[in-house]
Amino acid sequence: MSDPASIKKICVIGAGTMGSGIAAHLSNLGFEVTLLDATHQMAVQAFGRAKSAKPPHFYVPDRANEIRLGGVNENAAWIGEADWVCEAIVERAAEKHALFSRIQPVLRPDAFLSTNTSGIPISSLARGFSESFRKRFVGTHFFNPPRYLKLLELIPTSETDPSVIAAFSAFLEERVARRVVVAKDTPGFIANRYGMWCMFHAIHTAEKLRLTVEQVDAITGFFLGRPKSASFRLNDIVGLDVMQDIAVSLIERCPNDPHIQTLKLPRSVAILLEKGWIGEKAGQGYYRRGSGKEFLVFDLSTFAYRQKTDVDLPGMKHLEKLPLPERILKGLDLKDETGEFLRHYLLPTLKYADYLKAEISHSVLDIDHVMQWGFGWQMGPFEMIDLIGPSRIGLPAGRYYESSSVRAMDGAYTPIRSDPKYIRMKECPLVSSRRNFNLRDLGDGVHSIGLTTKMGIVSPDVVEELSDFLENGSIDRFVLTGEGRSFSAGFDLRFFSQAIAQERWTDIDRELGRLQKLGELLERSNAVSAIFGHALGGGLELAISCPKVVSLVETQIGFPEAKVGLIPAGRGITLMRLYNQQNAKRLSEVAIHLGTGVVASNAVEARSLGFLRSTDVTVFHPDRLIYEAKMAALEVKPEVRPEVSQALGPLSGMIDRLLEMASAKGELSAYDEQIGQRMKMIFSKARTYDECIAKERTEFLDLCGRALTVARINHMLEHGTPLRN
Ligand code: NAI
Repeated sequence: MSDPASIKKICVIGAGTMGSGIAAHLSNLGFEVTLLDATHQMAVQAFGRAKSAKPPHFYVPDRANEIRLGGVNENAAWIGEADWVCEAIVERAAEKHALFSRIQPVLRPDAFLSTNTSGIPISSLARGFSESFRKRFVGTHFFNPPRYLKLLELIPTSETDPSVIAAFSAFLEERVARRVVVAKDTPGFIANRYGMWCMFHAIHTAEKLRLTVEQVDAITGFFLGRPKSASFRLNDIVGLDVMQDIAVSLIERCPNDPHIQTLKLPRSVAILLEKGWIGEKAGQGYYRRGSGKEFLVFDLSTFAYRQKTDVDLPGMKHLEKLPLPERILKGLDLKDETGEFLRHYLLPTLKYADYLKAEISHSVLDIDHVMQWGFGWQMGPFEMIDLIGPSRIGLPAGRYYESSSVRAMDGAYTPIRSDPKYIRMKECPLVSSRRNFNLRDLGDGVHSIGLTTKMGIVSPDVVEELSDFLENGSIDRFVLTGEGRSFSAGFDLRFFSQAIAQERWTDIDRELGRLQKLGELLERSNAVSAIFGHALGGGLELAISCPKVVSLVETQIGFPEAKVGLIPAGRGITLMRLYNQQNAKRLSEVAIHLGTGVVASNAVEARSLGFLRSTDVTVFHPDRLIYEAKMAALEVKPEVRPEVSQALGPLSGMIDRLLEMASAKGELSAYDEQIGQRMKMIFSKARTYDECIAKERTEFLDLCGRALTVARINHMLEHGTPLRN
C-alpha cells in the first residue's frame, strides 16, 4: 500500500452533494484533487452547484479552481494516478458495483480505495473483486457538509487488511482532520442506525405527548447538552427526504430488531413529505421563515403553520443554570411536560443504545464518540446510563465507565487510551483562577492564560490584570487563549460608550495606551495565542501581538471597529502596517479592509486578507488547537519588530483609488470614506513605530467625538447590528 504520509493525489468519484463536499474539503487541506462524475459535463454542472453551497464548502472561493473535473470514461487514466480513490456516487449497489468493475483495471495497485455509502453493506460492494481490491477496500462515511462535520465512520470488512485499517485511520485523523470511529459493517453503521432512531423517537414522543416543536427543541437543545438545532431544527437540516430514505432502508435490512418500527414515519413527517416541505432544502419543514425575522412553526396537532411561540417550561428554566449531569437527573424527576418528555424520550434512547451496542460497535466508547462528534451531544448515551443508573432504565446493574476504563462487551474493563493530541483545556490542571482569566498548567513548562470574561471581552480591568500578571508573573512559556466558546469578541464597547458620554477623553487615551503596552509585553514574551470562534478587534490585537498565532481554521478573524465608527487603536493598524508593508498594493487593500471593518470568516481567508502572518499556524483539525498551540509554545521566541518601511511609492494614490471604486459601487457611505482617509493618513504618514501607535490613538479619539460614531456605537449596543450612516 502507498505510505499514508505521502498521499497527495485523491480522486473522488461522484460530484453530487457529498462528492463535491468531500473534494472541496480535501482541496482545502491542500491535496491535489480530481473530481469525476459520469461525464465531464455532469461533473462541471454538479460542481457548479457546489461552488455556491451555503454554508460554503471552500475557505476561499479561488480554491475551487484547483480541483480537476472530468468524466469516469473520458478521464479513466486520472483514476490510475490517485493515491486514494473515494467513491461517492448515487446510493445504488448495482451502479456502485458497475463503477468498481470499470475502474478496477486502472487503479494503482497500492492505492487506497473507499466508498462513502451511507448504508449499503461494504462487504457486498467488495464481493466479486480481486483480492488486492478487497484487501484495501473500506467505507469512509463522511457527514454532510464534510467541511463542517468532524466525524468519519471507517468501516472495514472482514477481508480488509488490518494494516490498511490502521494506516488509513491514522491518515484520516492526521491529514484529513477527522475524528475517526471504526464501525462494524452493519446496516446504517453507528450514526444512522442509532442517531436516526433517536431523531425519529423524538418526533413520535412529541406527537404522542402533544408537545410543541418549540417545547421539544427547548428541552433537547442546550438543556440536554446538545446543539441549538436540537430535534426539529436538526430534522430540517438533515432533510426529511434523507431521513425517510435511511429509515426505509433500515426497516428493510433489520427485520430482527424488535425496536425498528420506531423508524416508521411519524404523522407529521408523512404530511410534510407529501407537501414537499422537506426542510431547509425546500425552504420549509418544521420551521418556515415568515416575513422579516419572524419564524413560523409546523403545529403537530393542526398540521398547519402558526407563529412561533415563546416556550413556557418553568421547571426546566429553573434547572438551566445547573451543570449538565444535575440538569438531566433533576429534569427526569420533574412532574411537568419536561419530565414527562425526558422519561418517554431519553430513557428509551438509552435502553436502545444498550440493546444495539454489541451488534453495531466494537466498544460503547465508539457509540458515545459518534454521538459526541457527529451529533454534538456533550454526553454520550453510555455516559448518561452511568449517570442515571441502569435500574431506572431497566438495564442490568454495572457501570460502563470506571475511572479511566470502559467496560468491554465481555464485561472486562479495559483502559481508555488517552491521546495527548486531543488534550482539552478544561482537563489541564488549574493553577489559579483570577478575576478575568484562568491560569493552567499544560505540561512541559507551558502554561495557558484563558480569558474567562463573557465572549472573551477585553475590558480595562482585563488589560490591567493581564499586564500586572505578565510584568510580575513567573511563567515563561504560555498560550494566550479563551475558556469560553470564543477567544475574544473584542474590546468592551460599553467602556467607550460611557467614556464618550461623559467626555472622559483622557481615560480613553490612557486605556488605549495600556492596551498598546500590553501588546508590547506579549510581543516580548515566549507567547503563542490560540484563537477559535471569534478573534475580533481588541482581542485580535492581543492575539497578533504574540510572536505566533495558532488559529483554528473555523475562526472569524478581523477588525470590525469601522462598523462602529472607530479604528483599531491597540496597535492593530500598526501591526497590519508592519505585516503587509512589503507590497504597496497589498497594504492599500489592507487599509480598505481596516477602514471598512472587514472580518474574515476563517483563518485561511484571514491570511489571504493580510490579518495573519505567513509564520502563523492554521489548525485544520477541530480538536487539536490546544495541542498545536502547546507545541508551538515550546519553541516560540520573540521576533525583532520590523522598522516602518518608507519606500512605498504611490500608496496614498492607491488607497484613494480603492476608496473611489468602492464608493462608486455604493459600498461606502461618506463617513466610511472619511474613516478610510484616516487609515490612509496613518499608513502613509507614520515614519516610525512610535508615530504609528500615537497616530492610531489620536485618530481614534477624534472619531470618538463625532456624532456619526456615537450613533453607530449606540446602534450596535442596542440592536447588536451595525448602522450604516
Ligand atoms: P447525489 O445524488 O447528490 O450525487 C450523486 C452523484 O453521482 C451525481 O452527481 C451523479 O451524477 C453521480 N453518478 C451517478 N452514477 C455515477 C457513475 N456511474 N459514475 C460517476 N458518477 C455517477 O448523492 P449524494 O447525496 O452526494 O450521495 C452520494 C453517496 O454518499 C451515496 O452513497 C450516499 O448514500 C452517501 N452519503 C450521503 C449523505 C448525504 O447527506 N447526502 C451523507 C453521507 C453519505
